[in-house]
Amino acid sequence: RQRILSGAKPTADSLHLGNYIGAVRNWVSMQTEYDAVFFIPDLHAVTVDFDPGDLARRTRTVAAQYIAAGIDPEKCIFFVQSHVPEHAELAWALNCITGYGEAARMTQFKDKTQKGGTDAATLGLFAYPTLMAADILLYQTDLVPVGEDQRQHLELTRNLAQRFNTRFGEAFTVPDAKILKESAKIYDLQNPTAKMSKTGESASGSIQLLEDPKIAAKRIKSAVTDDGTVVRFDLEAKPGVSNLLTIYATLTGKTVTELENAYAGKMYGHLKVDLADVMVDFLTPLRDRTNELLADPAELDRLLADGARRAREIASVTLSSVYDKMGFLPLQ
Ligand code: TYM
Repeated sequence: RQRILSGAKPTADSLHLGNYIGAVRNWVSMQTEYDAVFFIPDLHAVTVDFDPGDLARRTRTVAAQYIAAGIDPEKCIFFVQSHVPEHAELAWALNCITGYGEAARMTQFKDKTQKGGTDAATLGLFAYPTLMAADILLYQTDLVPVGEDQRQHLELTRNLAQRFNTRFGEAFTVPDAKILKESAKIYDLQNPTAKMSKTGESASGSIQLLEDPKIAAKRIKSAVTDDGTVVRFDLEAKPGVSNLLTIYATLTGKTVTELENAYAGKMYGHLKVDLADVMVDFLTPLRDRTNELLADPAELDRLLADGARRAREIASVTLSSVYDKMGFLPLQ
């Protein structure tokens, strides 16, 4: 079976709808077909400003959200990145075969340093993509299911794997990105040409999976749309309406064409009212289940410890082979 691997950062009090539709939802349907590894990249979460008082809680919350969304720790390997030290160790080795200019060209680094300049950024943020490459390469991953925004990081990962294999000998599987076109990018509800994000421009533009579903319903109803009237998918001319159609289609399993037909002759308002109901029906059980899981943190921690143990069995083999190929003196 092919191996897949993916993760979502614990950088907020909840995952948002973009994480769910663009990533987690797809993982759930893949976990039976593939040999799946899902983890919580908490080492990545500290590359930007963070509060140590939040980190552990947010990590448990994301863990509970994965499970509530349908990730089954029995069917996959499920763990927290900082529990498996090989991630940071392989990242260091990869840093030493990555060009400075190559890292400086990463668009996410450029975006994140646009405001404060590079002096405000940490070396950790600069090395974010090589840590991500380590996450993927440690497990000999074949496919990485992610949203569109991660495409460039996957390209770098492939380049580093090939470079290492050529220079030191075959240590890594060269992975492919698996980006599901129709749901790869969910946009901000208030600013539908920007992606929905944890640190979005306005809280009202994103939907947090753990928020009161009534608030989410309100946000859908006040989503920005153009001043036309026809409900039609057109990302260029109607980004707001198109985003609502994508969300509606993915949550209900209907196709966009079916929805366009169903709303022929109706107003945007009809679409929004119905989608608001769909959202409440989707969020309510997910939120309840997450809160149930969070009520038993000891059980969550036990699942994560078991996952970390299984992850290390694989990661340690890759790291030993890497150290050996690089010529380090083995510890006797
Ligand atoms: P993160 O935590 O930002 O996002 C997790 C996943 O959600 C997807 N995503 C979106 N999809 C559609 N629309 C959106 N608005 C949207 N926002 C986020 C992301 O594409 C991602 O798949 N670098 C990764 C975390 C990571 C990782 C890895 C992923 C670290 N190591 C190894 C895969 C493999 C990130 O920032 O995800």
